[in-house]
Amino acid sequence: MFGFKKKNKGLPPVDERLSHIAFIMDGNGRWAQNKGLPREYGHKAGAEAFRRVIRLCGDAGIKAITVYAFSTENWSRPEREVRAIMELLDEYIREAERTDEENGIRYVFLGDKQALAPDLRAKAEHLETLTRENKLLLNIALNYGGRAEITTAVNQLIKEGYTSVTEADIASHLYTSHCADPDLIVRTANEYRLSNFLLWQAAYSEFYFTPTLWPDFGEEELGEAIRSFYARKRKFGGLADRKK
Ligand code: IPE
Ligand code: IPE
Ligand code: MG
Repeated sequence: MFGFKKKNKGLPPVDERLSHIAFIMDGNGRWAQNKGLPREYGHKAGAEAFRRVIRLCGDAGIKAITVYAFSTENWSRPEREVRAIMELLDEYIREAERTDEENGIRYVFLGDKQALAPDLRAKAEHLETLTRENKLLLNIALNYGGRAEITTAVNQLIKEGYTSVTEADIASHLYTSHCADPDLIVRTANEYRLSNFLLWQAAYSEFYFTPTLWPDFGEEELGEAIRSFYARKRKFGGLADRKK
């Protein structure tokens, strides 16, 4: 079909209608528990799935990816689990720095970095600067909450002297001001909620839910999500099948 880019044999081709895909990577804990392992092993396997899925999305021709890595509410988990997740993120950031040139990924962290360990925060900021000119956008939502994001944006607007705001003013003060809203949001592990993810940006996103646990998510399932997206009719409140 006209406009499609076919780069990956196993995945359906995508075009500009599916330029941004977001993942709520859920089910790591259950994956480990099902195997009789501590939850931390699930996060390790989840990090591998994350690497795999980013590669697949890039091959499929997707231009922007957002992943939910750690929510503002996830701090309430046992310290040992939080530490394991932060260590995996640290490892990933170091690896991303090393492989910057071959991957061509532009990293942006969504969320309040102030609550992160100073060392992790510095590495995250460095990676953002290092990869600023790269083309494939990867947003990593880390210490991210949709409500906190909107509240932060509003406070910033007040600080800048606004007394009344438009939707565009709010959108331009969100963590995602550099990119378009997600066309598709995928959530794994049989949960049917947003859990404070992209509350503003998800206004007209399509959703794909699957019982598959995140560590088991791969090419076949991503293909299903893409096919499912292309079978939808997006109307944006209108009657015709148009984008905006
Ligand atoms: C998602 O997996 C990863 C994070 C929230 C960091 P979970 O750890 O929530 O896995 P379940 O939902 O307990 O199975
Ligand atoms: C959402 O998953 C957060 C991430 C995937 C990082 P949770 O497992 O924290 O969400 P709830 O608690 O089931 O809503
Ligand atoms: Mg969960």
